[in-house]
Amino acid sequence: MNETTPRLLRALSGETLERPPIWFMRQAGRSLPEYHELRTRAADFISFCHNPEMAAEATLQPVRRFPLDAAIVFADILLIPRALGQEVWFEAGEGPRLGAMPEIARMAGEVEASTGRLSSIGETLARVRSELEPERALIGFAGGPWTVATYMIEGRGSDRSAARTFAYEHPETLDALLDVLVDATARYLVMQARSGAQALKIFESWAEGLAEDVFERIVIRPHRAIVEQVRAAGVTAPFIGFPRGAGALVENYARSVPVEGVALDTQASAELGRRLQAGGKTIQGALDNLLLRAGGAALDARVEGLLAQWSGGPYIFNLGHGVIPDTPIAHIARVVERVTGKPVKAMAAE
Ligand code: CP3
Repeated sequence: MNETTPRLLRALSGETLERPPIWFMRQAGRSLPEYHELRTRAADFISFCHNPEMAAEATLQPVRRFPLDAAIVFADILLIPRALGQEVWFEAGEGPRLGAMPEIARMAGEVEASTGRLSSIGETLARVRSELEPERALIGFAGGPWTVATYMIEGRGSDRSAARTFAYEHPETLDALLDVLVDATARYLVMQARSGAQALKIFESWAEGLAEDVFERIVIRPHRAIVEQVRAAGVTAPFIGFPRGAGALVENYARSVPVEGVALDTQASAELGRRLQAGGKTIQGALDNLLLRAGGAALDARVEGLLAQWSGGPYIFNLGHGVIPDTPIAHIARVVERVTGKPVKAMAAE
């Protein structure tokens, strides 16, 4: 670590900084007009993700507009099931749809080949890294195995009750599926790190509603296995784990998964964050994405509150979940200016 080390990596190494690094989950795309313009040029969302030139452009758009401390590669958590042989497509305005799940043994046989089918994401990372200023970090990511499994089982985004029922009725099958996803995800993350990702994030977006023993089995155990496999391959990039909705179980997670950073959702208390910091974790979060969209005095007050409650330890400023597509750009700009102390250039295309 030295003065040119990206602020995000300094925070993830456990440093308490005079101001935290800032980036936003789901910053690449959706809320920016220049993204929507670019999006019209791709036949569909999946081909957009697999086009390194376009995906690199979408990754860089938010960091051109705002003085953010990190870029996150433009991709999706559902590229893994697709690389394992399950059909994935996006219905306009509705979200993801998946075809019938292939036999698990069959997908297990595709794990090695799946990483090669995702090589375009590595090309995107390499392109972005060569264009990004050295003081800004590049983040690679994958979905948490349980979250990805919920989409694979249910065939779409939903309330996850069918996936949870599956977890209870077919525990061996679910464990076998999670094992396949752990192996494919670990290889994918190794490839991302070797292609230029300097930090790796695991999005476990649907970690809510799980009993403690189930959470241990289907979230903690697979995450630990991913980190261990990636480390065994010689990759030293820090991890950020995001068990969204885990509530008090986030402390079990922090104790048992060897990630450097833990991303907290909207409900995380000041105390909880400080306990994690005292336990050696860097924390990230937890601004409500709806408050970012709403703006006004309540947003300003919450930003001050977050900075006051967590800046005494290693902290990364972020949301508790992704940016909502119709979030006013002026609200994002205001938060970035406050946290970084840097002005955001006015842009024509609002
Ligand atoms: O952070 C970033 O902006 C980088 C890119 C990124 C995308 N998806 C691009 C995307 C990341 C990190 C993701 C993660 C992801 N994808 C998650 C976990 C994070 C979370 O928000 O919980 C999940 C659950 C998905 C699955 C997914 N992809 C859904 C449910 C949808 C449809 C609804 C939506 O959020 O837009 C997507 C589509 C998607 N992924 C879009 C983008 C930019 C919109 C697609 C479009 O432009 O048509």
